[in-house]
Amino acid sequence: MKRIGVLTSGGDSPGMNAAVRSVVRCGIDEGMEVYGIYRGYEGLMDGEIEELDRNSVGDILQRGGTILKTARSEKFRTEEGQAHAAAMLNTFGIEGLVVIGGDGSLRGGADLARRGIRVIGLPGTIDNDLGYTDYTIGFDTAVNTVLEAITKIRDTSSSHERTTVIEVMGRHCGDIALFAGLAGGAEGVLIPEIENDINELCKKIVMGANRGKQHSIIINAEGSGISSQELTETIQYRTGKDTRLVVLSYLQRGGSPTLRDRMLATLTGAKAVELLKDDSDSKAIGTVDGEIAAYDLIDALEQKREIDRAMYDLIGVLSK
Ligand code: F6P
Repeated sequence: MKRIGVLTSGGDSPGMNAAVRSVVRCGIDEGMEVYGIYRGYEGLMDGEIEELDRNSVGDILQRGGTILKTARSEKFRTEEGQAHAAAMLNTFGIEGLVVIGGDGSLRGGADLARRGIRVIGLPGTIDNDLGYTDYTIGFDTAVNTVLEAITKIRDTSSSHERTTVIEVMGRHCGDIALFAGLAGGAEGVLIPEIENDINELCKKIVMGANRGKQHSIIINAEGSGISSQELTETIQYRTGKDTRLVVLSYLQRGGSPTLRDRMLATLTGAKAVELLKDDSDSKAIGTVDGEIAAYDLIDALEQKREIDRAMYDLIGVLSK
């Protein structure tokens, strides 16, 4: 394969730049021409495409966000949009495409694969919601950002003897809440995958306070099924404890990627080029038990992400 493209799509995540850098430099090293496609599928349909050289991706390894910009495209969801995007790739002579994004973005890649484009998907999302890979690019950085916030919020919650509800991202997947809750010593975690029992949670907060706990930290994933505002008011009303809400929002999507995210991005980027060099069929790359692994793209997207129930239960045990 002589000419490949790379794009980032959906919500950005720390490490996307490291992945782009790896694809561009490994591709050039293999004698390929590498084209950057700006603003995800939207930019692809608009022909926002230019050749990248080694210098174009200099000094980005450590930067959050994505130099290629990103977008969520309604138009690309239509048959017409997808046909247009595939035609644009053909016009530019781009035979293989690396898509860096989450579930929706890789599904978009699968739509192009059905139209004859060889697509390699890299898991770029803070949500960790892809079933075929242990981790996604950006998840580790996002959880570390949440942990830093918990540590700071804990100080002031303790001084004021308050309960604090911290809302984290994760529309369909509770992994950010779960990992941050376990590593951050939360009293309770509410996630989309497990039915939440607010009564039990309130009882636990009261029991903790009765035996001398200075504060309680509750992590609510945005997709848990209960709004953080309502949760905060309910806890305050039922426990009688001063309860505050902190919504971390887009803070979680920024920042310099951690070692783990840089490694994952760099290694999956290199693997993508290796596959395209060999004219591989469309694949999704991730890690399984810490090793880089490639799956058939469609099969990978059928793998459902399971929540780690033992981890959830352990939060309950540790915070009794
Ligand atoms: O998909 C990643 C994510 O950060 C989700 O956790 C969040 O729900 C969503 O993106 C927010 O999307 P937007 O950037 O469109 O507000």
